[in-house]
Amino acid sequence: MKILMPTAGTPYRFSDLLFAKLGFFRGKKVFSEFADVLKSYFSVENIAFVNSGTTANFILYKILKDLRKRNEQVEIILPAYTAPSLLLPIEAADLKPVLVDIDPETFNLDVKKVKEKLSDKTLAIMPIHMFGLPCEVESLIKLAEDSDIFVLEDGASALGTKVNNRHISTIADFGFYSLNRGKNVSTLAGGIITWKEKGLADSFDKYIGELTALPTHSQFIMFIKFVALSLAVRPFTYTLLNPIVAKFKYTTLHTHFDSFQYTKMQAALGINLWKRIEYLDHKRVDNGLRLHEIFRSKPGFRIPVLPDNSKVAFNQFPVVVEDLEKRSLIIAQLKQAGLETTTLYDHPLHHIFPELNEAGNDPYPNATYLAEHLLLIPPHAQINSNILAKVKKVIDAIA
Ligand SMILES: Cc1ncc(COP(=O)(O)O)c(C=O)c1O
Repeated sequence: MKILMPTAGTPYRFSDLLFAKLGFFRGKKVFSEFADVLKSYFSVENIAFVNSGTTANFILYKILKDLRKRNEQVEIILPAYTAPSLLLPIEAADLKPVLVDIDPETFNLDVKKVKEKLSDKTLAIMPIHMFGLPCEVESLIKLAEDSDIFVLEDGASALGTKVNNRHISTIADFGFYSLNRGKNVSTLAGGIITWKEKGLADSFDKYIGELTALPTHSQFIMFIKFVALSLAVRPFTYTLLNPIVAKFKYTTLHTHFDSFQYTKMQAALGINLWKRIEYLDHKRVDNGLRLHEIFRSKPGFRIPVLPDNSKVAFNQFPVVVEDLEKRSLIIAQLKQAGLETTTLYDHPLHHIFPELNEAGNDPYPNATYLAEHLLLIPPHAQINSNILAKVKKVIDAIA
C-alpha cells in the first residue's frame, strides 16, 4: 500500500484528545484562559471566539453596520479570487460584494486597483491573506483614512503570518482567523475575532451572546468528529480512510452557514495546541521557504513575491503552472511519490457567480488565470525533508 501524505492537517497528539475531552468538564473560565493565551500570542487586547471564520466575518459585518455613518454603505471590496464561501456572510448581512482583480505578483488583492472601486457605498475593504501570504494592509489603511470606510482583514488561512513582527489580522482595526480543519491550526472548527477599539467589547459580547450554545449531544458528536479528524490527518490512517475522507472534503459550494458559540472542548484543545504553536508556525514558514527555493527561477512556474520583513506561515504553497499538461503530470507524479496536492479553487468568484461579472467579458483576468493554473503544495508540520526532496526531484525532472 502506498502511504499518502494528507493535503492539510494539524498533527494532533494524544494529549490534545485528552484536553479536549476534559474541556467538557471545565467551567466558563476556559474561554478567558484561551483568550489570554491568544492575546499574548497576537499581542492584542481584544479577542472573541465563535464557531467558524464565516460566523466571525458575519459578526464583524454586523458591528461595521452598527458603526457606519450612512445606511447606503453596503459594499464590501474583496479580491476576485478567494474562497466562494466568503459571499455567504456578505449576503446574510444584506451587503454587496464588489470585486477587484488580484495582483499576479503577490497572488492577493491588487491594492493599487482598490481606489477605483471606492464609492459612497463602500462599507469596508477586505484584504484577504490568501494561502497564508500577507496582503499589503498599510496602504489600504491609508486609503481609508479620513473616510468612513473600514478595513477588515481576513486571516482565515494565515494564522502565524507576520509582517514587521506584527501578526496579520491585527494590523487594521478589525480582523479574524479560522480554526477550521485544514487551516493553519485547527480546533476542528472555530473563528477568532480581533479588534482594536476596547469600547466595542460589549457589542461583540451582545452578538456572540445571541448565538445558540451547542447542545451537549452535539458537543459529544463534535468530540467524535475530532477523534476521527485526529486519525484522518495521519498519513497511515489517511491512506486507509481515503475513500471515506474524500467524502468529507469540500467539493461542493456551500450555500448556507450555521452560527453558534464556540465550545469549552475546543477552547481546552486550543490551550493545549498553543503550547507548541512556535513549532507549528515554524514548520509552515520553513517548509514554505524550501518550496519557494525549489520553484524559484524555474521557467514555466510563477511563485508569489514574499514581502520584505515578512514571516509567511503558508497554509498551502501556491505555484502557478503555465502549462496545464505539466500541472497534471506534477499532480500525478507527486501523488505517486506519496504527496497529495490540490488545485482549489478552480474558478474565480465572477465565474462562479456570473452576476458579479457586471462588466462582461473578463474584468478580472489575473484572478481567472490564477484559478485555472494554480497548484497548491501542502507545507504543514508533517511535511519533512524527505518529502520535500521528492518534490524537488519531480519538479527538476519536469521543469
Ligand atoms: C480566505 C477564507 N476566509 C474565510 C473562510 C471561512 O472560514 P471557516 O471555514 O472557518 O468558516 C475561509 C475558509 O475556507 C477562507 O479560506
